[in-house]
Amino acid sequence: MYSDKVMEHFENPRNIGEVENPDGTGNVGNPVCGDVMKVTIRVEDGRLAEIKCKTLGCGAAIATSSITTEMAMGMTLDEAMALTRDDIAQALGGLPSNKMHCSNLAVDGLHEAIADYRSHNS
Ligand code: FES
Repeated sequence: MYSDKVMEHFENPRNIGEVENPDGTGNVGNPVCGDVMKVTIRVEDGRLAEIKCKTLGCGAAIATSSITTEMAMGMTLDEAMALTRDDIAQALGGLPSNKMHCSNLAVDGLHEAIADYRSHNS
């Protein structure tokens, strides 16, 4: 049901936890399944220098948050804002259709953390 890449990120999730004194924080949840995620970021010279995720959710949410942090690291804020749930799902070798919403959680959390950063730094 899941690709090897999903399983690999699920078993060895990257960038778990919280950035100390973060520049931006995103808290998102899925009201349907009840899963929640907190994304914290550190920004340096307009780029994402550190991203961490705390995920209380399903295996797909854990895998998508892990790959999202890897993909977005080093991106400019605009590049990271342009990431979509399809980019995340594709990077994981696809997700079962009933799990596509899980990839939204990570991207939405990241976008919210960037919006939070921008609301303090514009
Ligand atoms: Fe809720 Fe996956 S089932 S995020």
